[in-house]
Amino acid sequence: MKPEYGAGVEEVDLSGRTVLVTGATSGIGRETALALGRLGATVLVHGRNRDAGRAVVDELGDGDHAFRRADFADLDAVEGLAEWARERDPAVLVNNAGGYFREGRLTDAGVEYTFHVNHLAPFLLTERLRPVLPDDGRVVNVSSEAHRGASLEFESLRSVDGYSGWRAYGRSKLANVLHARALAGRLDGPAANALHPGVVPGSGFVRNLPAPVRSVVSLAGGLAAVPFVGVDSAAEAAQTSVYLAAAPGLATTGGYFDDCAERAPAAAAQDDRAAERLWTWSAETLDRNGH
Ligand SMILES: NC(=O)c1ccc[n+]([C@@H]2O[C@H](COP(=O)([O-])OP(=O)(O)OC[C@H]3O[C@@H](n4cnc5c(N)ncnc54)[C@H](OP(=O)(O)O)[C@@H]3O)[C@@H](O)[C@H]2O)c1
Repeated sequence: MKPEYGAGVEEVDLSGRTVLVTGATSGIGRETALALGRLGATVLVHGRNRDAGRAVVDELGDGDHAFRRADFADLDAVEGLAEWARERDPAVLVNNAGGYFREGRLTDAGVEYTFHVNHLAPFLLTERLRPVLPDDGRVVNVSSEAHRGASLEFESLRSVDGYSGWRAYGRSKLANVLHARALAGRLDGPAANALHPGVVPGSGFVRNLPAPVRSVVSLAGGLAAVPFVGVDSAAEAAQTSVYLAAAPGLATTGGYFDDCAERAPAAAAQDDRAAERLWTWSAETLDRNGH
């Protein structure tokens, strides 16, 4: 069965192309993986939950689809995932894994956990895969409208003093947009873009939100109010990821998309100096940790 959605990618044939979808064991990532598989891609499924990962591979059916476990709080595990994926010639990387984390804590790398999992780990993975992407390759960063109103606050990235889960989440999602922007300038051929998938009311992400934020998000999402444009399902939320991963001749790179159309992100997400500062911070942090 072909995906019935995706702004004109229904007839695209991805046979012979390998895509890595991170966080594909549940939610939006799982639906992205299944939709890309229906278009003929060989899908590399990433997550932490082995049973869920293997179930997605089974559901993908015939082909060289495979699962690899890696905890994004562990940079060595991310290196292992990158090495495993590189051996399989990926053409597309969908940086989807991530979430909202209530408790503030630091990872072994001394980085605030949300920022580490949602930005630093995908930054490392992308750096390792960048050299092997073909000219028509794609990097797709799953961000969020929650990036609006956020600021990078570099001084907060190695601290959990006064931790706010929502502020940390918004900051990491701003980083996803800035990362795609800075990456686009470094890729000669492949396109790198970020997106907002839409808010899925029953998703793991929304369930993790504190009750007051969850109510506002769910209500606003249900009303399809901007900035929290609601969608009915994780499959619907996967549409823009599928579009950016599969649309032939995609002209845009370094852009931000919502509902399969380009849209201006927040001013802070269009700040090239901030994008470069983030790049330097990320590279130096990895270097300091031996990566
Ligand atoms: N749902 C929404 O309404 C919404 C709105 C805007 C943006 N987003 C973004 O969409 C993306 C997917 O969200 P979702 O709602 O589909 O979330 P979800 O159902 O909670 O799935 C999150 C995925 O990320 C993986 N993951 C989480 N923490 C990880 C870690 N430390 N290491 C490795 N993998 C990890 C999970 O793997 P395991 O379960 O195997 O551990 C799972 O596959 C996220 O980037 C989120 O910020 C979601």
